[in-house]
Amino acid sequence: MPEAVVDLVYITSAILFVFGIKLLGSPATARRGNAFASSAMLLAIVVTIVDQQILDWRTVAVGLVLGSIIGAFLARTVQMTEMPQLVGIFNGLGGGASAVVASAEFFGAGGAGELPVADGTTIAVSTLIGTVTFSGSMVAFGKLQGLVTGNPVTFPLQKTLNLILFLAVLSVGGYLATGTYAPSFYLTLAGLAFLLGILLVIPIGGADMPVVISLLNSYSGLAASAAGFVLGNNILIISGALVGAAGLILTQLMCKAMNRSLANVAFGAFGAGDGVSAATDDGEKTVRSVDPEETAMVLAYSDTVTVVPGYGLAVAQAQHELRALMDLLEKRGVTVRFAIHPVAGRMPGHMNVLLAEADVPYDRLFDLDEINPDFPRTDVAVVVGANDVVNPAAREPGSIIAGMPILDVDKAKSVVVLKRSLSPGFAGIDNELFYMDRTMMLFGDAKESLAGLVKEVREME
Ligand code: TAP
Repeated sequence: MPEAVVDLVYITSAILFVFGIKLLGSPATARRGNAFASSAMLLAIVVTIVDQQILDWRTVAVGLVLGSIIGAFLARTVQMTEMPQLVGIFNGLGGGASAVVASAEFFGAGGAGELPVADGTTIAVSTLIGTVTFSGSMVAFGKLQGLVTGNPVTFPLQKTLNLILFLAVLSVGGYLATGTYAPSFYLTLAGLAFLLGILLVIPIGGADMPVVISLLNSYSGLAASAAGFVLGNNILIISGALVGAAGLILTQLMCKAMNRSLANVAFGAFGAGDGVSAATDDGEKTVRSVDPEETAMVLAYSDTVTVVPGYGLAVAQAQHELRALMDLLEKRGVTVRFAIHPVAGRMPGHMNVLLAEADVPYDRLFDLDEINPDFPRTDVAVVVGANDVVNPAAREPGSIIAGMPILDVDKAKSVVVLKRSLSPGFAGIDNELFYMDRTMMLFGDAKESLAGLVKEVREME
């Protein structure tokens, strides 16, 4: 295939990638963005395989069909709450693939005895980042899937060991970067990088894994980009760089929305919260518990209702019941809106995707800055399985979540909270919102509570 054609296709793919990412910025255009970006990847892969004559077209076709079947199966069966671990595996395999490509180039060059410095450098970089991404992602997957403990694993002198390991990796990698063909050093680099990936991720709490996965996603992009340099493949360099940058931006956004630094996520051993003792009513504070009938009356006779979805909505898979309630209330003339916190749930865009599944129109979704000024004018704020993102403790200096931007539901005229108990959320701290005079607690699984509300509002028709 003429080089000019290959380059033209690569440039087209790169443009489609950039457009795809742009369109992924809004829920309304995200599907189109996904289609753009995945078509671009397909185009790039097909052209590369045909151009390099790596495989017979029949083998390529089998691969495409198999890949599509596996992709469609995963898209249909993996639950939204399991998405972080799926992304974790994808990252790990991406990183591992880059490391394998680098090793093939390294050992393939063995006969020459020495490699050009540029090749030695890119091979060392690709092996290092790819292997760290692989082992780190596998640990992240294991934590999220409950295969290894979700609690931070710490031991004495851990950071010192990590530092020594990091310096060792740099020294061995630096030696290989000079172009020396030394298989034992290469294997040492891969082994040390593998260990480093594990050691970097084990001290991080299971609940912080989505941030780590986003960071590892960025690493997998850098590893792919480095592999692109190893192979001299422009589209791999470009797509890898895009993934690297996007992953880094996402990591930064997540940290900002939690008001935590990346260093705090990496070394803070936060998220041990999984095991933190649950807050209970200590006897002095009282809560007002309501039933679906009373709650339905409050909702049906209000003018404005703002729903705050959280992690519990995803756990209960109650998005369709929520949508049904919205429809019934709107039929009665109630204005229903949804307030979306950037880190509600356990992964970026979690709530948007969940509500999109139930076909909640995008124009009802408002982000924190847009909706917060409206809470004082809102009749009822309905908190469905959310906790930390509505916890007023974030306004108190010294609180573990101090400074985290929150949705100001406590400023609404009344608040209804749907959850099963007074247990804390991810941060492991009590929530004063539950004890406020104008807060009503509708205890129970969100799906059952919402189904009860739907039934009650329907009976009022
Ligand atoms: P959380 O603060 O984690 O609270 C979720 C609440 O849902 C819990 O208090 C739980 O209370 C309730 N719940 C669980 N299952 C339920 C069910 N079946 N029915 C009804 N309620 C149920 O959630 P949030 O407000 O969405 O905040 C997210 C937290 O995760 C933040 O702290 C954020 O920093 C962190 N985080 C987010 C991300 C991203 S990117 N989104 C990544 C890492 C960490 P009960 O047990 O009493 O029912």
